[in-house]
Formats: sequence, structure tokens, C-alpha cells
Amino acid sequence: MTNTLSHSPLLKVEHLGVRFAVKRNGFFGGKSYLKAVDDISFELARGKTLAIVGESGSGKTTAALAVGRLVEAFHGKVQLDGKDFLALSDDDLRVARGKIQFIFQDPYSSLNPRLRAKAVVREPLDSLTDKSEAEKQEIIDQLFAAVGLRKEQQELFPHQFSGGQRQRIGIARALATEPELIICDEAVSALDVAVQAQILNLLRRLQEERGLSYLFISHDLGVVQHMCDTIAVMYMGRIVEYADRKSLFNSPQHPYTKALLSAVPSVKKRGVSQAQAQMIDGDPPDPVNLPAGCRFASRCPLAAEVCRQKEPELGVLSDAHQVACHMVE
Ligand SMILES: Nc1ncnc2c1ncn2[C@@H]1O[C@H](COP(=O)(O)OP(=O)(O)OP(=O)(O)O)[C@@H](O)[C@H]1O
Ligand code: SF4
Ligand SMILES: [Mg+2]
Repeated sequence: MTNTLSHSPLLKVEHLGVRFAVKRNGFFGGKSYLKAVDDISFELARGKTLAIVGESGSGKTTAALAVGRLVEAFHGKVQLDGKDFLALSDDDLRVARGKIQFIFQDPYSSLNPRLRAKAVVREPLDSLTDKSEAEKQEIIDQLFAAVGLRKEQQELFPHQFSGGQRQRIGIARALATEPELIICDEAVSALDVAVQAQILNLLRRLQEERGLSYLFISHDLGVVQHMCDTIAVMYMGRIVEYADRKSLFNSPQHPYTKALLSAVPSVKKRGVSQAQAQMIDGDPPDPVNLPAGCRFASRCPLAAEVCRQKEPELGVLSDAHQVACHMVE
């Protein structure tokens, strides 16, 4: 499925890797590397949503930042609209930057507190476009209406809004340059459930109206089940399962995915057992010193000798489903 989601995906990521140099202690404490993202590939069709899920530290944010060139990829390729995004010159990059925008978890810390809401939304227009003052103001007016904020709210400062409203400002800002791809990194995680639903509805409506593609990052499978077409499950820098929404929720294959699903109240009923729910408790390996075999082996109830010796590769189960586990046929 990785390479056949559509003939010309908006976003195609191949063998993306990001590593961070870390200092090790001790006598021979030279440089070691933490492979935050370790050779992942995925693609996203126009107008669709790909969710990346996984626990804290699995590499979701790092992968997203690398796609947007906000951290440097160590290897791999990111194609946006068929162009090699990681190799663009500075001039081309300025234009292309407008095509990928981010919405982050905490709008409070990602919105400049000294700027009025209209100035927050205006920032990307100033830095990434050459529009006139009148054009910018017209776009800002339209965006405030599109995200459900009133015109007079343009004059307020971020602290004068609720969390949900602040996220609406974040969405308006992300839309300002008419991006094709929006990367939502835990965009609703800080909001309470009712407000989460409102923001998810808004994102879905905007997607339909504007043909947007979303890379939707969340640690919570419950959130993404209403939001995505395809899901990549990450663990310790790797994609361990990659499937369309229906296959993943109806027929999860990887023990880690099953464990994540068992924590989702609405999915629990579908027969993911308590034993599977509990196994997620074990200790993950040291990310700087990964084991030779499967990275999930220290927490997996199905782990066998082969799992400790050989790292499982993503294998194709069907057109819509890939999984990396020795115990899945
Ligand atoms: N700048 C950095 N320098 C060193 N290590 C980093 C850096 N950024 C992230 N890491 C490490 O890379 C790994 C992946 O982190 P990342 O933030 O991408 O995970 P995540 O899946 O987004 O987690 P969360 O759900 O907590 O946001 C972690 O082990 C993290 O400690
Ligand atoms: S490869 Fe082995 S240890 Fe890894 S998830 Fe599958 S069964 Fe568990
Ligand atoms: Mg993160």
C-alpha cells in the first residue's frame, strides 16, 4: 500500500530518518545517536488524512518536523506535489513553505502573546507572500469567519480567548497561505472532549471546503478514528503497522496497535482483551541503544526467540494493510 495509495500523492515520504547526537557518560563517552525517526515511508493523497499515532517518544513530532524541514532529515526523501522538498533552494522553499503549515498542541504557547489575533493570522502572509495590505486584510476577515470567530475578536490578544478559540486562531493562521498540507500535531489534545469535537468538526469541514490534506498526529487512537483515512502506528522511530482506517480498527494485527486500541473506550468493546491492555506497561528499550531484534519485544506477550534476534520488516498483508511482526502471517 505504501506506494499505491494514489498515482500522484500530495506527499510522499521515503526512508525518512532523523537522528540526534547525544552525549554518553563514562570513560568512552563519545558521541552516540538517537534515531528518533528510523527509515519510515508513507504517503498522503490529496484531500485525505493520514494519522500518525504512537506513545510519547515514538517519533511522531520529529517525523512531522522533518517533513516540514523544521528539523534536518539525516536520510530519506520528502516529495510534495512531486517535488523534492528537502532539496529546494531558498527561493523555492519560501513559496513551498506556504504549502505546508502546522497546527500545534498548545495554541497558547505557539501564539505570540504580544500580538493581537489579527496580527497572529497575518504573520505567515507577511513572511511568505507578497500580498498588498488590502488583500491581507481581506484574507484575515475571511479566515476569521471561516473558523467561526467574530470580526471584532481580531483586536483581542491570545489570553482573551478560550482554549478552543485559541486553536481556531491557530487554524486560521495555518490557512492564511492557502496550504495544501496541514500538519496537526496533537492539535486537539489539550482541549476537553466537547471542544475537541468542535475543533475536529471544523477541521473536517475546512478539509471538504478547501480540499486540504492533513497529516494528523496524535497519541490517541480514539481521536484519529473520526479523523483519518489511513493510519501509521509508530513505535520507537519505526512504523509498525500501516493500514486504512477500517482495517486498522476492525482487524488490528500488531500487538502494540492492539494495546493502544485497548485503551480507547469505544474500541474496548470490540474484544481486545484485558491481557493485551496491560502489556503496554513494560519498559521500552533505551532509544540510544536499541536491541538487535524487535523494538517491542521487551513489552510483547508474544515475543519469541526470533523476535530478539531479527528485526521484523513491514510486510504486506493486503492492499490496505502492512504490519511489521514475526508472528503475523
Ligand atoms: N532535539 C532533540 N534532541 C535530542 N533528542 C530528541 C530531540 N527531539 C526529540 N528527541 C527524542 O526523539 C524521540 C522522539 O521524540 P518525538 O518528540 O518526536 O516523539 P513524539 O512521538 O512526538 O512524542 P510525544 O507524544 O511526547 O509528543 C524521543 O526519544 C525524544 O526524546
Ligand atoms: S515481532 Fe515478536 S516481539 Fe515484535 S511485536 Fe511481533 S511478536 Fe511481539
Ligand atoms: Mg510529539
